[in-house]
Amino acid sequence: MDKTKDAIEILKTYNQDHIIRLLDNLEGEKKQELIDQIMRIDFNQIHELYENTKKEIEIKENKIEAIKYVDKSKLTKEEKENLDKLGEDVIKKGEYAVVTMAGGQGTRLGHTGPKGTFKLDVYGKGKYLFEILTENLKEANKKYGVNIFWYIMTSKENNEETVNFLEKHKYFGYPKEKVKIFTQSELPLVDTNGKLLIDKNYKIKEASDGNGGTYSSLRASGCLAEMKENGIKWVFIGSVDNALLKMVDVTLLGLAIDKNVQIASKSVVKANPHEKVGVFCKMNGHPKVIEYTELPEKMAEEVDENGELKFGESHIMCNLYTIDAIERISKEPLIYHSAFKKNSYIDEDGKEVIPTKPNSYKFESFIFDAFELFDDIAILRGKREDDFAPVKNKEGVDSPRTAKELYEKYWNRNKKAD
Ligand code: UD1
Repeated sequence: MDKTKDAIEILKTYNQDHIIRLLDNLEGEKKQELIDQIMRIDFNQIHELYENTKKEIEIKENKIEAIKYVDKSKLTKEEKENLDKLGEDVIKKGEYAVVTMAGGQGTRLGHTGPKGTFKLDVYGKGKYLFEILTENLKEANKKYGVNIFWYIMTSKENNEETVNFLEKHKYFGYPKEKVKIFTQSELPLVDTNGKLLIDKNYKIKEASDGNGGTYSSLRASGCLAEMKENGIKWVFIGSVDNALLKMVDVTLLGLAIDKNVQIASKSVVKANPHEKVGVFCKMNGHPKVIEYTELPEKMAEEVDENGELKFGESHIMCNLYTIDAIERISKEPLIYHSAFKKNSYIDEDGKEVIPTKPNSYKFESFIFDAFELFDDIAILRGKREDDFAPVKNKEGVDSPRTAKELYEKYWNRNKKAD
């Protein structure tokens, strides 16, 4: 019973009296589960994150500069061949692994289920996003005579559905023993008074803690240790929702090796000042991405002496790391960003409340916040028509329609997809 007392003490300290009342009304297994959850949650961290929501985001006091990049299309034939050779050697030696972040749901897309299970209407019969990614890896395997380890990060919410989907589709022909699925961690949701939300199962409502959780989850799941055992030296981390994502770009890898940096990232030029992408910059001498939700209007529109956007290098979730960089980042706490969202919950009468306007904060760390830990990263500017066909919204920009168009145009230019 001591554990119950401890749990109540914690809840009192952090003003979560509604959970004490909930606990009083539960018994047996349900009560035990809630107590275990309370003991696991870092209430101090959640309290701090909630307090931070009241503070303004400060960017102004920092020294911000444009980032340097290498334009892939401007490399000479010889330069490109040299970089490609460096990259190819690593891949042929089996020292390259790929991680797909597939923890997000397709909410904005209006798709129920893991985003990777969304079928893009391409070439008549259509292709699932997971299928498109598989094809990309299979092509690289064939080209370099290897079988690349593929790690897929799911969330607690979508793990089972993702596994079932991939099993059902027999991993789209990818060697199953080379696919590893791991799950990311979660954080509680907090209302505007700092109270934790309760979910339908009478537990504290939690949600995925953002794609920055990839590093620590790689570590906690044992995947990082396994990569090291398998002699992996370079790890690519990419999103699930870009139909033109190149997960094995030897030029990008070659550039990282040539520049002797621990992280390399592919960018494309921002389509317009208000496109919903993060942008690269240097802040206080360190590489950084400022997310579109946090980019001040003035910076978004600033142009350089050539009339180009000063912060126009878009982060397209196409990032490459040395295994040492992943190891280092996985031990560092990343900052959390808060998003004010609509989240349903169970009220004190046990009734489900479905809010019509945002009611609570979700805390997420971002994959790119780790870049600041390093002095430099290499940026390779690619081309939108070759590298970036995001599937984000149901209609309009970055929708299945625009992604289909970009995907089909790309494959019509390169080779006909079957
Ligand atoms: C993201 C990037 C943005 C970039 C844009 C390009 C972040 C925070 N933002 O924005 O800088 O310009 O893509 O398309 O990375 N995911 C998880 N777990 C989570 C949350 C997300 O695995 O907890 C995965 C998603 O499945 C997806 C990727 O992360 O593969 C990006 O998801 P999302 O959060 O929708 O980012 P965007 O707002 O699109």
